Amino acid sequence: MSSLANPVNWVLAAVLGYISYNYFTSSTAPSPPAPRPKHAALVFREYTPKELEPFNGSTPETRILMAVKGNVYDVTRGRNFYGPEGPYGNFAGRDASRGLAKNSFDKDMLSPIDGPIDTLTDLDDDEKESLNDWAGHFEGKYQLVGKLIENKD
Ligand code: HEM
Repeated sequence: MSSLANPVNWVLAAVLGYISYNYFTSSTAPSPPAPRPKHAALVFREYTPKELEPFNGSTPETRILMAVKGNVYDVTRGRNFYGPEGPYGNFAGRDASRGLAKNSFDKDMLSPIDGPIDTLTDLDDDEKESLNDWAGHFEGKYQLVGKLIENKD
């Protein structure tokens, strides 16, 4: 029997044709990812706790900054961690040093925005080591964009 006369070949040709048609006319091509909001370039500067607070990631247009041991890092690309829905959102726009030292994201790890910078002098050796380890993590992963200084008033 010639291949054209074999009904199995007709069925196979029909299936192949159907698959090819769907492949080339499919409208389910993956859509490009939504564009990320453009953020203004940051110039290295000093931030008081009050000035740092607005960079808390509450809107996608705002960069997220965070202070660790007096250094201010741009953690915007870690928005999943530090955005409003993130597990470490408390740290956004704040001095996270005490929380990192004590491995706690409790709200009472944060010093008041209008108060003095946490001196951290009460930390024990393990807590100091934990904080230094975290400081190394942030230094290696995020851009240093400033220094934390005392409020002016
Ligand atoms: C409940 C236990 C916890 C779990 C299961 C957990 C899980 C994780 C995971 C999976 C990551 C991502 C690691 C990576 O991709 O590099 C991470 C990162 C992180 N965690 Fe936790 N964590 C916990 C507790 C904590 C606590 C108590 C703190 C408080 C200091 C904390 C602070 C952080 C920070 C600062 C990062 C780094 C985020 C970054 O790289 O920007 N975690 N955690």
